[in-house]
Amino acid sequence: MINIPKGTKDVLPELSYKWRFIENAARETAEIFNINEVRTPVFEHTELFLRGVGETTDVVNKEMYTFEDKGGRSITLKPEGTAGVVRMFIENGLASTPMPLKTFYITPCFRYERPQAGRLREFHQFGVEVFGAKSAETDAEIIFAASTFLNKLGVSKTELQINSIGCRICRAEYNKALKDYFRPHLGKMCATCRARFDKNPLRMLDCKEEDCKKITANAPKILDYLCGDCKTHFEKVKRLLTAQGVKYVVNPRIVRGLDYYTKTVFEFISTDIGAQGAVCAGGRYDNLVEELGGAALPAIGFAAGIERLLLLMENTGASFPAAQKPLIYVAGMDDITRAKAFEIVAELRLNGINAEADLMERSVKAQFKYADKSGAHYVAVIGGNELAANTVNIKNMADGTQTAVNLNEIYSYLKKEKK
Ligand code: HAM
Repeated sequence: MINIPKGTKDVLPELSYKWRFIENAARETAEIFNINEVRTPVFEHTELFLRGVGETTDVVNKEMYTFEDKGGRSITLKPEGTAGVVRMFIENGLASTPMPLKTFYITPCFRYERPQAGRLREFHQFGVEVFGAKSAETDAEIIFAASTFLNKLGVSKTELQINSIGCRICRAEYNKALKDYFRPHLGKMCATCRARFDKNPLRMLDCKEEDCKKITANAPKILDYLCGDCKTHFEKVKRLLTAQGVKYVVNPRIVRGLDYYTKTVFEFISTDIGAQGAVCAGGRYDNLVEELGGAALPAIGFAAGIERLLLLMENTGASFPAAQKPLIYVAGMDDITRAKAFEIVAELRLNGINAEADLMERSVKAQFKYADKSGAHYVAVIGGNELAANTVNIKNMADGTQTAVNLNEIYSYLKKEKK
């Protein structure tokens, strides 16, 4: 017996309707906001993530599934969706299409993390990336799209936390202030923080080590260092969110785990699923397209973790639509009536009805038992007498009532009943 790899999950047939519900809500949200689907490969050249996600991040340093392919290329399974979409945008010259360009994806992602509730090694993201628009309205629209998606799922108990981490100009000032603050404490900080001190001091704020957390608690706050443009932008985003009825709190501690962010960053946090509370997160990345070799174009996006949303919905008793069940099961008694049952079911399916007949060569009694277990709303049994009279007895499994229906009128009967 070979087991499933650690940190991965099967989606079993009786659970897949929950996934479909979440994915449908993602697609419906995308449609309302006029966002088109894109699909990029599950693997990319490793360098894309080194340069895109950033070499000082945990994702790149510790968590990537990287291997050499048979041609000697370094390949990485995507740890997140943004870098691949940016590569696609640049490689296909999409900057010359009308802006903004709004895209979404539903994709598996891979991170070699320590598995725990809500943290997997293979997980799935619904993500949105919007290119070409620098306005605060874009930030507000994207956050509103994320919040619309969560509302569609009935996930209302999350808190939206927002922050601005500034642009290149204010970040330079802020990095200097951070270094001045951290320098005297460096001896007491972890090796990762010490390495980040030179390369990217902002990342030190994300350290989970208790000793480092105590020191970072009093570090200077980015919001005090924003340049005029970033400050105005952030104020406008907040005003627009309020105007849209989107509640938020400003959390100056959010820096995000990936390097590409600028200006607005945000996370929808839940307290109902344990330590891994971020169900949806994102922000602006105005330099990434250029850094990866494209035009100097702003961009913004978010991604929601499907497994975390599922966990949250299950933990908070959110309602899912009913699982898929046959509307009718048609049972036969012998070769002739079974053949008829098969014919009827084929006809019903051509009319778009979820109908089933026996594939297991079971007795009528066993067919009935299976039909009941499968949750069929109606069960019809055709015997010799019924066939001779050209009728069938249809049993409503919910109330036990039986109705004789002409064999040629099963479809119209079901249609009437469905209303
Ligand atoms: P992220 O915060 O790394 O951002 O991931 C986004 C979401 O993916 C998280 O909030 C979480 O719900 C889910 N997630 C992340 N890691 C795991 C894991 N190991 N197991 C289960 N779920 C996980 C990004 O990936 C950015 N690309 C988001 C973005 C798009 N920013 C701009 N555009």
